[in-house]
Amino acid sequence: MPGKFVMGRDVVREAADWGSVGWLCRPSITGAANLAIVEATFGPGKGHAFHKHPEQEEVIFIVAGEVEQWIGEDKRNLRPGDSAFIPADVVHATFVIGAGEARILAIFGPVVGEGSTTDERWVSETPWLADEISSSMSISPDTIIIDYGCGIGRMAKELIDRYGCRVVGVDISDNMRALAIDYVRSNRFMSVSPEMLDALVERGFRADAGISIWVLQHCLKPDDDIDRIQRTLKPGADFFLLNNIYRAVPTREKAWVNDGLDIKAMVGKRFALQREGIPPLERTPKDLVNIIFWAAYRKA
Ligand SMILES: C[S@@+](CC[C@H](N)C(=O)[O-])C[C@H]1O[C@@H](n2cnc3c(N)ncnc32)[C@H](O)[C@@H]1O
Repeated sequence: MPGKFVMGRDVVREAADWGSVGWLCRPSITGAANLAIVEATFGPGKGHAFHKHPEQEEVIFIVAGEVEQWIGEDKRNLRPGDSAFIPADVVHATFVIGAGEARILAIFGPVVGEGSTTDERWVSETPWLADEISSSMSISPDTIIIDYGCGIGRMAKELIDRYGCRVVGVDISDNMRALAIDYVRSNRFMSVSPEMLDALVERGFRADAGISIWVLQHCLKPDDDIDRIQRTLKPGADFFLLNNIYRAVPTREKAWVNDGLDIKAMVGKRFALQREGIPPLERTPKDLVNIIFWAAYRKA
């Protein structure tokens, strides 16, 4: 396998709710067999909450800014030139200190497949999700859908492209809302904060249908979010949910915490279940098999 130059201008950047990443090396970019390298930029006050990579070692190298880096229960403040080695399966997290951005390089080995990275998941997941959503609700150019926790708006874009519908993306993160406007780029899309949605609903706005994809398992007060979704939908509206079975709430002190709340049961108390299933195995990253479900509900 020949080597490869990767020019900065060719690096495709992905948005994350804490900033953005650009992959410099991985099998599909360089043909690398054992090495994956990503540059990540964190916005001021942002960070990558506690997580672990069961099969990969990682080095985090600070390029710019200052971060609080955790390895297990140990933490250090790191500046440009400093780095951290994280053994496989050890919980770690990175939080920006101070008012500026921080840039890091994260170097992983070995490569354990690319299926779990966001962009690759999207390629395989977005089309079947749109198929499943459209089998669960009727969508026409007249339909207004709320996409609760829209992120960058990849589902909104897919649904608008396919069905010409209108989508109101709702997201708690101002960064994601701004990115979504840019990513979806459609007169049939807007992004609003939960507060703005509440104000619209108070003044009479109701959506014809709703979706929430990979959101409620992370929400700190999911009851409030499910309430908001319910208030926003018209009577008889369909609501499509894709979620982890187990909760994964970000905390600063510990790894993602499962607080034991059962999102499926909570939504099932307020909406009537119509259909449910699990994503096709060939579309699901292997670390997520057995821990996700989708369900289609109807508001009474
Ligand atoms: C894992 S991302 C999923 C994004 C998108 N649904 C997708 O599948 O591509 C979760 C998103 O939910 C947003 N979010 C988290 N808690 C929220 C809340 N309480 N209300 C609205 N959005 C929230 C985050 O900011 C983030 O953009």
